[in-house]
Amino acid sequence: MKKITVIGTGYVGLVSGAGISDFGHHVTCADIIDSKIKMLQSGKIPIYEPGLSDLVERNVKAGRLAFTTDVDSAIQSSAVIFIAVGTPQGDNGEANISAVEAVAKSIGKNLNGYKVICTKSTVPIGTGDRVCKLVNESMPVDGEFDYVSNPEFLREGSAVKDFLWPDRVVIGATSEKAFDIMRDVYRPLYVNEKPMLHTNVATAEMIKYAANAFLALKISYINEVANLCEKVGADVHQVAKAMGQDGRISPKFLHPGPGYGGSCFPKDTHAIAALARKKGSPMNTIEAAIVTNQDQKKRMVDKMRNLIGGNFSGKTVGVLGLAFKPNTDDVRESASIEMIQAIMDEGGTVKAYDPIANESMEEFFPELSYCQSWEETCKQTDGVAIMTEWNEFRGLSLEKLKVMMNSPVILDTRNILSINKLIEFGFQFDNVGREKS
Ligand code: UGA
Repeated sequence: MKKITVIGTGYVGLVSGAGISDFGHHVTCADIIDSKIKMLQSGKIPIYEPGLSDLVERNVKAGRLAFTTDVDSAIQSSAVIFIAVGTPQGDNGEANISAVEAVAKSIGKNLNGYKVICTKSTVPIGTGDRVCKLVNESMPVDGEFDYVSNPEFLREGSAVKDFLWPDRVVIGATSEKAFDIMRDVYRPLYVNEKPMLHTNVATAEMIKYAANAFLALKISYINEVANLCEKVGADVHQVAKAMGQDGRISPKFLHPGPGYGGSCFPKDTHAIAALARKKGSPMNTIEAAIVTNQDQKKRMVDKMRNLIGGNFSGKTVGVLGLAFKPNTDDVRESASIEMIQAIMDEGGTVKAYDPIANESMEEFFPELSYCQSWEETCKQTDGVAIMTEWNEFRGLSLEKLKVMMNSPVILDTRNILSINKLIEFGFQFDNVGREKS
């Protein structure tokens, strides 16, 4: 059992902290935002993430998980310190690591003896050197540390599962001693023979960006295939299925849609592309994936406009799904933002609904009319756009929908509705890469 501090209580920090405490360690999650820590101390979870509430409650009850704003004491009393603060996209496309740098300095100041300092935040390649330098500059003479880069591969909406049952754990460690300590942190995974890769720091940092950028590339690729399918009368689902049956390709992340969103792919693709340009080794594939993704979001707007008669002016559109994907309340970079903005800019009216992300979207569009069910949203609309593949939209009754709308017009950007049923009920419809009306 180790004493561990995780600094930062966002998606990554909170899930990692709770997950590590579940592995049997004593974890303190530290954050400088007082309101967040107070909320956590009172048993509330500031984000929506399936399974996280139970995981936190279980470990708090067992006395293995605590929350504090006293970052200094938490650092002093721990053997391993995880840095899990945010790295938002800066103006030049590169990730902004000022929060990581501030944490590095406070770790340095509080370095009483040997500790492992481990970065979990997604940081530009080379950040490890920067953190080590800042810690060295601010630490007392008896301070001693090893640095580790331990990127996370959590998906929002299944972050708890991804943490407790990962495909692999990447540990970029500067020494064997630090690697052994980290292997102990992840002991239950190691015992279960989960692959644990020991790399150098730059390699671990690169793995994270290379993996995310590749997945984004895969999505942009299938979206372009889908667009071409529309032109030649092919069905993208059958194409993707057959492609995925080739073990070299794999069926995952080959689902066409309105373009990827979230806090990771858009930011990480920009960051790796910016870094590659800076190093004189441009990544043309990723630059293209970024452009394709931006275009895909615009294409969805064009599709909706075409379906509704060429103009949003004076029309009411129901937008079903606001989150960038199901099972999360996160709307950052969601394709629904582009859709809502365009409809409003062009003089249309939007009725919006998401099973859990209404509140998050209010931050972007406070003036919008938010509904509490798909039925309420679709009533008396001239068209409906499905933007997120929530299960409740998969099961919506087209028969009911047709009666409640002004005219039966639907854009299915996630390809979740049955084309046969849409035809049967006389809908005017479009989707991504399949037969349309
Ligand atoms: C992503 C990665 O999948 C995680 O491995 C990584 O740890 C995480 O970023 C991160 O860097 O923190 P996340 O952004 O939570 O996770 O969500 P994904 O499930 O990857 O979906 C991203 C976007 O791609 C969503 O908008 C989703 O709708 C879209 N997508 C995904 C598709 O359009 N098609 C697909 O086949 C898959």
